[in-house]
Amino acid sequence: MCGIVGYIGKGNVYDILIKGLHRLEYRGYDSAGIALVDKDGKLKVYKTKGKVSNLEDYCQDKNTEAGAGIAHTRWATHGEPSDKNAHPHYSEDGNLALVHNGTIENYKILKDALEQHGCKFQSETDTEVLVQLIEYIKVKNNCSLADAVREAMNQVVGAYAIAVVEKDKPDTIIAARKSSPLVIGIGDDETFLASDATPFVEYTKDVVYLKDEEIAIIKQGEPLKVLTLDNRESKIDVTTLELSISQLEKGGYPHFMLKEIFEQPDTLRDCIRGRIIDGGGKINISGLNDNKEKFCEAKRIVIVACGTSWHAALLGKYLIQDMCRIPVEVEYASEFRYSNPVLDDKDVVIAISQSGETADTLAAAKIAREMGAFVFGISNSVGSSIPRETDSGTYIHVGPEIGVASTKAFTGQVMVLTLLALGIAQMRNTMDEAKIKEIGREVLHIPEYVQEVLKLNDTIERLSLIYTYARNFLYLGRGYSYPVALEGALKLKEISYIHAEGYPAAEMKHGPIALIDAEMPSVIIAPQDHLYEKIVSNVQQVKARGGNIIAIVTKGDTVIRNIADHVLEVPELPECLTPIITSIPLQLLSYYIAINKGKDVDMPRNLAKSVTVE
Ligand code: F6R
Repeated sequence: MCGIVGYIGKGNVYDILIKGLHRLEYRGYDSAGIALVDKDGKLKVYKTKGKVSNLEDYCQDKNTEAGAGIAHTRWATHGEPSDKNAHPHYSEDGNLALVHNGTIENYKILKDALEQHGCKFQSETDTEVLVQLIEYIKVKNNCSLADAVREAMNQVVGAYAIAVVEKDKPDTIIAARKSSPLVIGIGDDETFLASDATPFVEYTKDVVYLKDEEIAIIKQGEPLKVLTLDNRESKIDVTTLELSISQLEKGGYPHFMLKEIFEQPDTLRDCIRGRIIDGGGKINISGLNDNKEKFCEAKRIVIVACGTSWHAALLGKYLIQDMCRIPVEVEYASEFRYSNPVLDDKDVVIAISQSGETADTLAAAKIAREMGAFVFGISNSVGSSIPRETDSGTYIHVGPEIGVASTKAFTGQVMVLTLLALGIAQMRNTMDEAKIKEIGREVLHIPEYVQEVLKLNDTIERLSLIYTYARNFLYLGRGYSYPVALEGALKLKEISYIHAEGYPAAEMKHGPIALIDAEMPSVIIAPQDHLYEKIVSNVQQVKARGGNIIAIVTKGDTVIRNIADHVLEVPELPECLTPIITSIPLQLLSYYIAINKGKDVDMPRNLAKSVTVE
């Protein structure tokens, strides 16, 4: 949700910033811009609507020489995507340029006050108010840029990660953050800053995660200095990044999404590694082992998440209730945070977020902690906000997910939730040890089962051609397959822009059945499980109304094979493990339909990977 990057040092500032913007483009691609301060102290701002490649075209004949610079890729909140609303924004006198990720809630009050002082605004954004305010304070108080930023941020309500440069100061960048991520990379006589570490991973592994309400003073040739908003000097913790450049490249695949779908045998292997010991009989998750009594004594578990992570959360509910016999509630984080929730210290709240930065999930986790609940985070992004703001937690370890549509993170989240449920069941003695061992042994083979499912790729590619131009899709499932249906529908919607609804198969007859005709395909997830006979009836109900059916079934199925128009077979597995393998054909189906329609699957319209605004 907007990406910011900054660089100061001996390298080519423009090239480093543009490359960094490409890495951050998954966060938004409505417009892009760059501000460069050259060695003569001139401040040059170039910005355009559209993707980073548009900015590169625009800059082709421009002077891009610089000593320091900041850049931005935008996901629009205030003001339509346009050249004028693109960042960087600059102060009216042209002295400062600023990039911002976040939303300023009191921008209208601040803007009105500045206008009364004669300040003129160029854009419709909330961001412009920041740069105008900082410059106003700087001139009024005749103070340094760092002091002006500090005073301005004390007046601001909202979320921000900002970077500011000043004319005549090619050796300085000032940055600040609150509730939006900002990480600083410390290199050899050069310093980077960015919304995440991907723009500078090939230059340095030494990073500092700026904390809420901190200001960084980055000055060429001087050590990094960090201040708090109340002007105290902060201790600087340098951590080592565990990220490799190959994880950020497509590795021969045409899209990150396809690469990430095909990576799943490996990512699941990484996710499982070390977490099942004694040949399947013992679950070993450190965040769980260290907080045994919290989970043993929990009277209720509440899971909060958004989007795809919410679908994983719903599976978490089925898994935990089934195996651990604890009541589980699943809440959209955005609803939960404003619902005046009832929680106490006997509740365990699990916050799930791939990015670890989703504003609503982060806020929900903070509220739950304030109310005394024990908050456990499940994230993919090491060093992100949710792992830092929760009492304990665990990572899914699937590597950076770049494709905007989540794939490998979903299966990683479901895997971790399955292990968590097995682990809690073992601690609470709610499941037979032999059963835990049987499932644990199968989990160890999940990567092989996923590899087998991926062999459906060519069949699904051919199948996608039949349904590319369908205008609506219905996804149906029961029990563990219901959240899979929701996730399959979301995948199709977000990258192909085809309307799709996920529904509990039995609920279909209470309404959506009216939609069924030969024009609307139904994707029915129907593996062999305790609801199989029930879903066979639902399959028949769709067929009886002339609907076309694509069914995901267990290998060897003969009943549904005779009713459905197309079947995709997956290996037989214990019921609780089927979601991981049944979701993969749905990822491939949505990918190929979107490709057939010529859509940009890695950067679907209006979406961004990390939703750091409300
Ligand atoms: C869909 C998708 C989104 C995210 C949601 C939450 O493919 O990726 O729905 O799942 O924005 O993001 P995280 O998991 O980062 O909190």
